Amino acid sequence: MPPLTEQHGWLTSPVVVCAPMRLIALPQLAVEVSGAGGFGFIGAGNNLDKLDGWLREAANLVNDHSILRMQYEATGILPIGFGYFNWAPSEDLEKAVAAVRKWKPAAVWQFGAHNNEDYANWAEKIRQASDGRTKVWIQIGSVADAVDVARLAKPVDVLVVQGTDAGGHGLDSGAGIISLLPEVADALHNAGMADIKLIGAGGIMDGRGTAAALMLGADGVCLGTRFLASEEAAIAEGYRKEVVRATDGGANTARTKVYDKLRGTTLWPEKYNARGVLNKSFYDDKSGMTFEENQRLHDEAMKQGDSGWGVDGRITTYAGTGVGLVKSVMKAEDIVKEVQRDAMSRLRLAAKQQ
Ligand SMILES: Cc1cc2nc3c(=O)[nH]c(=O)nc-3n(C[C@H](O)[C@H](O)[C@H](O)COP(=O)(O)O)c2cc1C
Repeated sequence: MPPLTEQHGWLTSPVVVCAPMRLIALPQLAVEVSGAGGFGFIGAGNNLDKLDGWLREAANLVNDHSILRMQYEATGILPIGFGYFNWAPSEDLEKAVAAVRKWKPAAVWQFGAHNNEDYANWAEKIRQASDGRTKVWIQIGSVADAVDVARLAKPVDVLVVQGTDAGGHGLDSGAGIISLLPEVADALHNAGMADIKLIGAGGIMDGRGTAAALMLGADGVCLGTRFLASEEAAIAEGYRKEVVRATDGGANTARTKVYDKLRGTTLWPEKYNARGVLNKSFYDDKSGMTFEENQRLHDEAMKQGDSGWGVDGRITTYAGTGVGLVKSVMKAEDIVKEVQRDAMSRLRLAAKQQ
């Protein structure tokens, strides 16, 4: 398979992807990222009712952007992707397929299936709907899942290799990308599937993490937490501020189910939980407060608006261990370009030192 930059004419190297963060990465963020030479995704999550409207909005924004418009007109492929959770019911598969047939996005990103066969089933229908032109990306978090998903959903175009440092949802136990990425690369190579492109995700915030992931065998990187502090992310100001404030993510974030329970998001497969910044909801749960009381206080805090976030707040700040490296809110375009520039200068410097 040719490099991702050859498969998708607007991409520049090194490939920087913005994660399809549910209801946070919407058309504006996705198109800004692609417009800067990255790969933008709309995060539909389990909300596929709105997908058609989001893709229409993205197509309009693409038409306002000279490079993306040229790309779109020349190929008929919308230069962004969308992501969804495979635990959504089968009517949602029909909505995803209809959206692919109509809008021909460059990629769909699958995540969170109850079993790996579901990825294969959805991937086949997506390919049929686009004559194979919409690429299939699947996010996995273990070596075993990488090989199993690659075999079942063949031909998978991209595996997003998510390490345990990642913000938001992921496997409750797993490795960081420093060992996960090379082990996945070796396992796919040994299984005769070295053709699959790998995107590293989890803890990558800047050019240093990007350069490291490329050295570990990735063809590109995916950033989620960093883009929470972009101007285009669809999040509350209190959330964005907390992402910029929090430091030392190994100590001040945790993988837990408590935030999901409080938010009422309980359809995730058992083996998933989510990483977020520690706050009062977390500490009270740990110190034995009943769930009912914690829920009551959480629901009260939800009415407070921006002041409900923070270490003394109760509203969830999903974010990864790299949160301490996020220092300011920037335009998504500037994040992509800064990460690319810094990664290249790190790589050049390392080469000189040999
Ligand atoms: C707030 C938030 C929401 C997320 N939502 C989704 C999602 O809807 N679908 C998905 O596949 N991944 C989602 N992720 C995980 C990302 O795909 C990715 O693995 C992660 O952000 C990478 O780690 P990082 O946050 O350290 O950059 C989310 C991550 C965050 C931080």
